[in-house]
Amino acid sequence: MYKITDYVSWVGKTDWELPRFHGDEYSIFKGSSYNAYLIQDEKTVLIDTVWKPYAAEFIEKLKSVIDLKSIDYIISNHAEVDHSGALPELLAEIPGTPVYCTKAGIANLKGHYHEDWNFVEVKTGDELDIGKHKLKFIEARMLHWPDTMFTYMTGENILFSNDAFGQHFASELMYNDKVDRAGLYHEAIKYYANILTPFSKLVKRKIEEVLSFNLPVDMICPSHGIIWRDNPAQIVEKYLEWSDGYSENQVTIFYDTMWNATRRMAETIAEGILSVNPDITVKLFNSSKQDKNEIITEVFKSKLILVGSSTINKGILSSAAAILEMIKGLGFTGKKAAAFGSYGWSGESVGLINEELKRAGFALINDGIRVLWQPDNDALNRCFDFGADAAKSI
Ligand code: FEO
Repeated sequence: MYKITDYVSWVGKTDWELPRFHGDEYSIFKGSSYNAYLIQDEKTVLIDTVWKPYAAEFIEKLKSVIDLKSIDYIISNHAEVDHSGALPELLAEIPGTPVYCTKAGIANLKGHYHEDWNFVEVKTGDELDIGKHKLKFIEARMLHWPDTMFTYMTGENILFSNDAFGQHFASELMYNDKVDRAGLYHEAIKYYANILTPFSKLVKRKIEEVLSFNLPVDMICPSHGIIWRDNPAQIVEKYLEWSDGYSENQVTIFYDTMWNATRRMAETIAEGILSVNPDITVKLFNSSKQDKNEIITEVFKSKLILVGSSTINKGILSSAAAILEMIKGLGFTGKKAAAFGSYGWSGESVGLINEELKRAGFALINDGIRVLWQPDNDALNRCFDFGADAAKSI
């Protein structure tokens, strides 16, 4: 337990070992945490719990600081199992304790655990008086599940934002003013790019709605990672930027290659881009060798992406195809793209990549470039010019 203020303590679990999240869909390199918070006012309130594998440890630690029977209310800001996972064991010890959540939260918790707990449905504007403070509930539908809500604590001016503003970043330093800023922002933008991008319109609208309430916010306590206590508005401003067709002056090239022909194309295309504008950040990734979520993060930052694959069995190499599938679901907006690839005879890959990019909402800048077998000097010159033209398109 770590005291955050006189009334609020962190009672979550830091998961230093977590390698993947959402099954295999999200890579974790800096660990994560499941942040649960205990409020001790005239009433005792628990906000969220931890992932199920840590339920017993969570409850044991909670028991070492309070009598579980003293918990008056449980707030479930979000039903996903990384935050609700300890509810079954906890409520087995304190049956009947009210669980405050949204209507969708009730449905989702019932769907996960098939228990008819003492649910209390709340909506935006509802309040819970806990003594010297009040808790105000704000529905945050699709940030990132239908059930998600925020809880705001008056007096302490804390926004418990659940997944929003979170990061998969484990640190005993707890607070944004104590950890490495670049590392923190990398994890925050990776989280946004890979999890929240599909809901960007709703993110923008929700933040504008919350800002219209004019609630003072001294601290944002998300359900993963670091707490924003130094100028918490900074991450809100970042979310407003990220949710509004965000891009930097960057081109990302990702490709897969069988015998290096497509790799040589990629590298020459990059040289062509930089020949036109050396200030553009150009990043190259072999999608079979590098992490897909990191590549997605770089795609999110880019004005233009170039996607390459050799043709195999009339198709695209599987690592490039997997990232194209992810991109399609994420719904990036306002980005341009083009395809490239080597082939030996049939040469379908470029056409197929074009189709995938169009389906993903990217504006194609041309029909792409193909090279038969290994590129000779003429082919490399064509790739260089392709890169130069790509640079001029942004
Ligand atoms: Fe961290 Fe959507 O759960």
